[in-house]
Amino acid sequence: MSPRKIIIDTDPGQDDAVAILLALASPEDVEVLGITAVAGNVPLPLTEKNARIVCEVAGRPDVKVFAGCDAPLIRPLVTAEHVHGKTGLDGPARPDPTMPLQDQHAVDFIIETLRTQPSDTITLCPLGPLTNIATAFQKAPDIVERVHQIVLMGGGFFEGGNITPSAEFNIYVDPEAAEVVFRSGVSIVMCPLDVTHKALTDRTWIEKMESLGTLAGHMVAGWTDFFERFDVAKYGSTGAPLHDPCVIAYLIDPKLFDGRFINVEIETKSDLTLGMTVADWWRVTDRKPNALFLNSVHRDGLFDLLSERIARL
Ligand code: RIB
Ligand code: CA
Repeated sequence: MSPRKIIIDTDPGQDDAVAILLALASPEDVEVLGITAVAGNVPLPLTEKNARIVCEVAGRPDVKVFAGCDAPLIRPLVTAEHVHGKTGLDGPARPDPTMPLQDQHAVDFIIETLRTQPSDTITLCPLGPLTNIATAFQKAPDIVERVHQIVLMGGGFFEGGNITPSAEFNIYVDPEAAEVVFRSGVSIVMCPLDVTHKALTDRTWIEKMESLGTLAGHMVAGWTDFFERFDVAKYGSTGAPLHDPCVIAYLIDPKLFDGRFINVEIETKSDLTLGMTVADWWRVTDRKPNALFLNSVHRDGLFDLLSERIARL
């Protein structure tokens, strides 16, 4: 089967970085048409720079990286330096990237790609706030029906939130954008905290990455080592949740995951629960299902896949 054509929309972020490496190491499964940076974990100038750093770590300076929206649709930007460090990609030091940033705005790249590629062949993979995707849908409504699928990291329900008691970061930063996406009618697969909090690194795996003796292995070990300290301190967990790599892993091997096709709505009004993904898991409403809500993962299978693919770089 030919590889899926994807656009990765991202706010690197150590976990975004591992997801990008997984995608670039898997050409038989995914063809990365471009990487679009969005403001999220850190401001846009850093997320676009970090995306290029990651491409260079993968030995892929040819990948087209675009800068997108630098703020949510209507709200001020909320960032997460407390999790990812002030660079957004704290861990082993890397030189500034030398590969170019594309001149075209990320939103225009998304629109142009969806208009020029055959309809129903492009998968959008948002790993951060949904601002770029929502802006593209609002600017060019004709592209919505041309999207094959959206596979995103975001939300949470039984697991609660990670930036507020009820909201996950990607959705919380731009709830209006999330509402546009979840009401678009596009086929959605979501990787919420309910599944990503089961995708935990451990010391054995981090040491295995370091033992690869490659730049990619060293960086993955360093990034996840840095990234885990926040979750270990907050949740008492035994490792870092690899949120964003779940998106790419799902594309490569969906059998690693399980979930339920349900209705998911976004809270955009209440200050108390702003950005909450209200998942009708028990189907107690007559709201139309609009997303495959993943809530389980074969953890060892996921990390075996990550080990095998990162070792290729
Ligand atoms: O809540 C986790 C998500 O927020 C991940 O995508 C992480 O990179 C941050 O963007
Ligand atoms: Ca992210």
